[in-house]
Amino acid sequence: MLSEFWRKISASPAASDWDKTLNMSIRRLPPELINRIAAGEVVERPASALKELVENALDAGANQVAVRLYAGGLELIEVADDGCGMTPDEMRLALERHATSKLPEDAIDRITSFGFRGEALPSIASVSRLTVESRVRGADGWRIEIDHGAEAGEGPAALPPGTRIKVEGLFDKVPARRKFLRSPRSEYGACLDAVKRLAMARSDVGFTLEHDGRRVLTLAAAEPPVRVAELLTHELDRHGIGIDCAREGMRLTGVISLPTFNRGVADQQFLFVNSRPVKDRLLVGALRGAYRDLIARDRHPIAALFLEIPLDEVDVNVHPAKTEVRFRDPSAVRGLIIGGLRHALDEESGRSAAREQAAAPVMWTSSATYDQALDRPAAVEESGIPAFAGMTRVADDQRLFEPAPAARAEPAVEPVPSFPLGVARGQVAATYIVAEAEDGLVIVDQHAAHERLVLERMRAAREGGTVARQALLLPEVVELEEPDCDRLEAAAAELADMGLELERFGPTAILVRAVPAALGRTDVHGLLADLAAEIAELGGPLSLRDKLDLVAATIACHGSVRAGRILSVAEMNALLREMEVTPRSGQCNHGRPTWVKLAHTDIEKLFGRK
Ligand SMILES: Nc1ncnc2c1ncn2[C@@H]1O[C@H](COP(=O)(O)OP(=O)(O)OP(=O)(O)O)[C@@H](O)[C@H]1O
Ligand SMILES: [Mg+2]
Repeated sequence: MLSEFWRKISASPAASDWDKTLNMSIRRLPPELINRIAAGEVVERPASALKELVENALDAGANQVAVRLYAGGLELIEVADDGCGMTPDEMRLALERHATSKLPEDAIDRITSFGFRGEALPSIASVSRLTVESRVRGADGWRIEIDHGAEAGEGPAALPPGTRIKVEGLFDKVPARRKFLRSPRSEYGACLDAVKRLAMARSDVGFTLEHDGRRVLTLAAAEPPVRVAELLTHELDRHGIGIDCAREGMRLTGVISLPTFNRGVADQQFLFVNSRPVKDRLLVGALRGAYRDLIARDRHPIAALFLEIPLDEVDVNVHPAKTEVRFRDPSAVRGLIIGGLRHALDEESGRSAAREQAAAPVMWTSSATYDQALDRPAAVEESGIPAFAGMTRVADDQRLFEPAPAARAEPAVEPVPSFPLGVARGQVAATYIVAEAEDGLVIVDQHAAHERLVLERMRAAREGGTVARQALLLPEVVELEEPDCDRLEAAAAELADMGLELERFGPTAILVRAVPAALGRTDVHGLLADLAAEIAELGGPLSLRDKLDLVAATIACHGSVRAGRILSVAEMNALLREMEVTPRSGQCNHGRPTWVKLAHTDIEKLFGRK
């Protein structure tokens, strides 16, 4: 089949044309073509052209940047700044390839500006109609027009000191590129995102953005936390955690969301290295890593994180759009991010997004006052209430007759002992524990809570060096793909530390001899497949400890066997007490809350007493 396919292909006329071109002689490409090729890398869509223009404005020392777009930038992109401006000679030079004012001492390893290659303007000019107007202080303004790489006129221009660049009809004459552009709406979305990222990077600069004649953004110069708060969802006021940590000459500041406040897409993650917006894989991976067992795989946290790192520790000249960087010591960077975020998340582990929170982003530098502000009684969201609708009172001993719905209650005792999560009063739908606390009613998702407890127990045991394992009567053979077997085999020693004993059993099988006792009976095949996937995804330079932590979460997920189980009152109370003393018990491994509380005042409101 396949050889037939290849034979057909190589016999096709297109393939023979291809061969001919290969025999052509070597020649130097004309500059217009070189620029066009560079444009392919630098300017992918309106948003990337816009990004380059705004970066130039910021590099020129602007205090105010005004952006105007029509049809998502497809018709018009205009960026005006009040920066240093250019003389007519400088303007001509700026439009030449590899002409830059930003590497005065050829110091390519110590770049502090956004630009450094002298490629953006000529690239954009080769695929659009470009008008540059500029004026330095104390002189008159000048205008130069370029039409798809060719000079199209110049003359005096009236404008305040600074620069105004207009890009019209981007890719109009480049059908191959035009094909890949999306609707004006989605191109606009990408443009807005580009402006937001640069506006977060430089909060000291004022920004305005207009789309199709409508003002969309007006940002006055502000402190970084204020700027970030303006541009992220305002809900982060209540569901955010301030970050400020440092290690080995690096510093990380910003704000991240509580795990319970997450999104289905990763579009609200803003990462910066030395004030440069990046979409770096290592940083995104570290952010994911920090949330790994707190949030489901297909959910994403919200974050604005600023990494400051010595210039000689990072190379920004590795990506055509300058959105990726290379770190000299990637594992130190990963360590700082995972460690710093983990620590902050642990400190906030009692909080869940189902409860009222105090403001966060504007205060990320003063975490002490912030922490105190959180110590107030919590209230449940409206959505938590219907859980009560089907609850009926059934005496404990009637449980034997399996009443439907499956619910029962304890008689109230006076006084209620002061446990934060209260004393168990009943169980609803064999899934939720209802407890009475001094200040209200607590509902616990027993499955979610139990999953969390298994994980934390495993962690504690591992740290204490005593992981109980349960030998399998008959070792189990698990068939997996060869690379998965390789990964598990390579991690065998680490997994043994967690109570999972396995060994290679031929090229595509693993023999499992013992599993962590905390797991109880479990689907060994599912566990191994998940673990292999986890290890593959983690890859990269992650410390052993971090890896173990994350793998433990996968194991715990398989160990949560208590869903839908009827619990005795003693068992329920035991679960509540264990939750109270267990770190991070406020949410399950997937970022959902494990419990909610309905304060007395909320109950009174429900019944119209207040
Ligand atoms: N808004 C502006 N105000 C003042 N000077 C500008 C402005 N835009 C561009 N320039 C000048 O034009 C030069 C070329 O700009 P261009 O964006 O092509 O290259 P660059 O910014 O130096 O490097 P990169 O290709 O990495 O962006 C800049 O070095 C700068 O001197
Ligand atoms: Mg530039």
